[in-house]
Amino acid sequence: MYRDPVQSLQPAQHNSIATTMAMPAATRPLRVGMIGIGTVGAGTFRVLARNQATIAGRAGRGIEVVVVAARNLARAAGVVGTGVALTNDPMQVATHPEVDVVVEAAGGTGPAREWLLAAMAAGKHVVTANKALLAVHGNELFAAARQHGVALAYEGAVAVSIPIIKALREGLTANRIEWVAGIINGTTNFILSKMRDEGLGFAEALAQAQALGYAEADPAFDIEGVDAAHKITLLAANAFGMPVRFADAQVEGITALQGLDVACAEQLGYRIKLLGVARKRPDGVELRVQPALVPATHLLAHVNGSMNGILVKGDAAGVTMYYGAGAGSEQTASAVIADLVDVARLDGTNAAQRVPHLGFHAHAVDEHLAVLPRAAVHTRHYLRVPVHAPQDIEAVGAWLAAQQVPMAQLALAADKALPPGSGAQVLVLTDAVAQATVDLAVHALASHRAVAGPVASLRVEMLEA
Ligand SMILES: NC(=O)c1ccc[n+]([C@@H]2O[C@H](COP(=O)([O-])OP(=O)(O)OC[C@H]3O[C@@H](n4cnc5c(N)ncnc54)[C@H](OP(=O)(O)O)[C@@H]3O)[C@@H](O)[C@H]2O)c1
Repeated sequence: MYRDPVQSLQPAQHNSIATTMAMPAATRPLRVGMIGIGTVGAGTFRVLARNQATIAGRAGRGIEVVVVAARNLARAAGVVGTGVALTNDPMQVATHPEVDVVVEAAGGTGPAREWLLAAMAAGKHVVTANKALLAVHGNELFAAARQHGVALAYEGAVAVSIPIIKALREGLTANRIEWVAGIINGTTNFILSKMRDEGLGFAEALAQAQALGYAEADPAFDIEGVDAAHKITLLAANAFGMPVRFADAQVEGITALQGLDVACAEQLGYRIKLLGVARKRPDGVELRVQPALVPATHLLAHVNGSMNGILVKGDAAGVTMYYGAGAGSEQTASAVIADLVDVARLDGTNAAQRVPHLGFHAHAVDEHLAVLPRAAVHTRHYLRVPVHAPQDIEAVGAWLAAQQVPMAQLALAADKALPPGSGAQVLVLTDAVAQATVDLAVHALASHRAVAGPVASLRVEMLEA
């Protein structure tokens, strides 16, 4: 069924390549080498084949996959059929003499970095859907792309079906971006929607997500907020013209979130979402992922199930919103192929005249723009304070006021929000206050005589539209 990888890499087997080699670069098909033909790779191959004429009409030339790397070649052959060379050595694709552009759809941050560096050193453009790789090694990889004058495109790495990189890099170039925020992980949004709609606990909702294929067997990157942090890091770099600073991002997932807080937030008129937030401040950038309350009437509160939604606030455009599937085979292919069309158009052009990788030309990227520490982040907050008796609400309110915590609302959780036996709960919504003040207050509250258990604390994001 599959071809011997060494034999199959002989050019003679590729009639389409043999006949196109003599054509000028701008008119012959763009020749693609793919590393990985799993969910993203197979979707890309399928959509390229299905929409061939439309894509060629937009790109100005055909786009043709000529070689594919995978570990399981029989499975790969089942996807690509005959006429495409197969190998289980990704380096052969990265350095293949007949390849113009390498699509990396394998994943990981180790070998994938080597493949991309080798491909770019060999003068090939690169398209990747690998957010982990770019979040961790992006500064090095973008520098290599500049050095070799090649494109490094990554729309599929952020919000797949939503062309948010294109929006930031091209559509919104007039704006000083004030903030970017959104729901950028479908797995956790599915889990949070289940917790709210069906009153499930976190573990139960995660099990459902896994059974329905919305969560990986190892969901750690999703539920711990790491995947969303990879994406908000890339969005921040594009929004503010800063290096990729994933190591400085504050990352909190939803593993410790209680159904009780989902219900109490609902009582106060809010929903809990895992948000990625990048906000420019006079003294730096907030770069963070955390479960946060958003008003139930807010646009983001209505992004449910596995969908993604992103808001961008520009000084000229105001707030714009982007909504769509944040994962999936053909949904990601949509972005990968859009990048391939860009490459087909820019191939052979002067690198200095192309859209810069992070939206700003290298000399305009602010190397000194730092990520603000967690303690300095100012937002509103939600606190849930378990107390011995409902009348303890007065003691909690007085104590918080004495700690300089500005309160906008103080209430008791309604019985219907509470699972049986959970005891009285005081709910607090603060005005904007530094995280450091809230952390101190929560720490000290733990030993207050009225308090009957651990205090829950979450940010409240108003994301003014
Ligand atoms: N799935 C999504 O919805 C989605 C969305 C956006 C971005 N992404 C990103 O896209 C990338 C790929 O994800 P995926 O879901 O498509 O993964 P996947 O289904 O597991 O496919 C990975 C592919 O890469 C191949 N591969 C991995 N390591 C290899 C190696 N050392 N040598 C040769 N082939 C290798 C695998 O080959 P075998 O099958 O033969 O093992 C498989 O064909 C990841 O970076 C992911 O974060 C995924």
